Amino acid sequence: MSIPGGEPQWTLPDAGWGRRAADAATLHEPQNIREYVAVHQHLRVGAGTRLLDVACGAGLAVELAAARGATVAGIDASARLLAVARDRNRGADLRVGDMRALPWGDGEFDVVTSFRGIWGTTPEVLDEVRRVLRPGGLLGLTVWGRVKASPGAWALRPFLWAQTAQVAHQAAMNSLGRPGVGEELLTRHGFEAVRRVDIPFVWEFADPESFARAVACTGPGYEAIQAVGEQRFLEDAARLAAEHARDGLPLRAEINLVGFLARAPAPAVPASSFLAEPAQLSDRARSAYADDSAELGYVMNATRMWANDTEALELLFKALGRVTKTAGLTVRDRGILVTAAASTLGDSYCALAWGGKLAAAASAQLSAGVIAGDDGLLDDRERALARWARQVAADPNATNASDVQPLREAGYTEAQILAITAYVALRVAFSTINDALGAVPDWQLRTTTPEAVLRSVTFGRVAALSASDSS
Ligand SMILES: C[S@@+](CC[C@H](N)C(=O)[O-])C[C@H]1O[C@@H](n2cnc3c(N)ncnc32)[C@H](O)[C@@H]1O
Repeated sequence: MSIPGGEPQWTLPDAGWGRRAADAATLHEPQNIREYVAVHQHLRVGAGTRLLDVACGAGLAVELAAARGATVAGIDASARLLAVARDRNRGADLRVGDMRALPWGDGEFDVVTSFRGIWGTTPEVLDEVRRVLRPGGLLGLTVWGRVKASPGAWALRPFLWAQTAQVAHQAAMNSLGRPGVGEELLTRHGFEAVRRVDIPFVWEFADPESFARAVACTGPGYEAIQAVGEQRFLEDAARLAAEHARDGLPLRAEINLVGFLARAPAPAVPASSFLAEPAQLSDRARSAYADDSAELGYVMNATRMWANDTEALELLFKALGRVTKTAGLTVRDRGILVTAAASTLGDSYCALAWGGKLAAAASAQLSAGVIAGDDGLLDDRERALARWARQVAADPNATNASDVQPLREAGYTEAQILAITAYVALRVAFSTINDALGAVPDWQLRTTTPEAVLRSVTFGRVAALSASDSS
């Protein structure tokens, strides 16, 4: 569709968002920094991640993703904001364009983000996002949540000074954040493992005038300015903010923001791992297959891969058995240690397999929580275990003597702390070998693992959908 003057409809946002591009880039965008960091963390953006930011604005989120080692791309309808994004991200693949027709090929990205850029009014963008994601690639998007109930609701009030029709449109845009709505939409557009997460979001301003300028340079701010005039908008916004001024502290507006994490559908998986099973199974391998069949009703892909040296696997599990005994770890304890370590590493196989065991030993909510990094349902001793497992898996050189103290306070002896650490390290070794050699989570895990746990595993290799996919 075109607008008078021959410009296509999608270029309209530039009138509002691009009007004061330097203000938007320096007064508005940096306010969202907590959101960018949290979403990148959830999506494990890091070295080599091929990332596209949809509706990238002035490109600060793109810059932060690049700082984590990602190869970055971005698109925005505002030519003037994109000029800033290019200035900030020399050499990045940044394009002015319409997010409803992404100018990239199928499967080009591991991760797509969109920070308050995809709304209830633009569901068709989700099909485009799914297309440019590689199979199993991840989407992270944010939308406003319970704005009215937020302590900082006042900061969005100037947007309501726009014409009634525009305010109604803003409300329709925000619909995605309502309970179940985003989940339903993402699922309808073919995404899997859809998960809602809380995202920290706070605007802070030095004074009421800075607040007024920061909201005046936004798209919805511009709509309000068109209705009431710029001078009055700035004065009224500053007056509103002055009511929230605090002596010696910045103005602070905490606003509820919802994040959605979702995965593009998984491919049919051609094999159980990168390694072929040996032509002749050893006696040890045959007996491992029989054990799996008796216990699970099927032979695990990992067992098939390790059939190339079942004795090595046995020795690894013998060591695990020994330290389990020394530390006195229950199944529930081991579930916490394995899910915390595996999710930190990004190992979906062990997170799913042990997520199911932990769900059985405790609850699906507790298990999903630990995988997602939320230890709210754990007691103090278990929290110390989960925290330590994540530290050991993430960066063993970043630990301090004080990090060990919570384990002592939980009642563990020095020998038990050694055993717990060895348990985690051996699990890290097992996960690393499985992941590096492409061991695919068994398709049966999709049916045996509770839904909440399945949803929490938004990382790693993806289990096949059925037996035929994995043959
Ligand atoms: C709420 S802002 C978010 C910008 C940025 N993600 C941030 O965090 O500040 C919405 C952005 O969507 C862009 N936009 C609106 N419609 C678009 C479209 N059809 N295609 C691409 N970008 C669009 C606007 O130009 C604006 O930069």
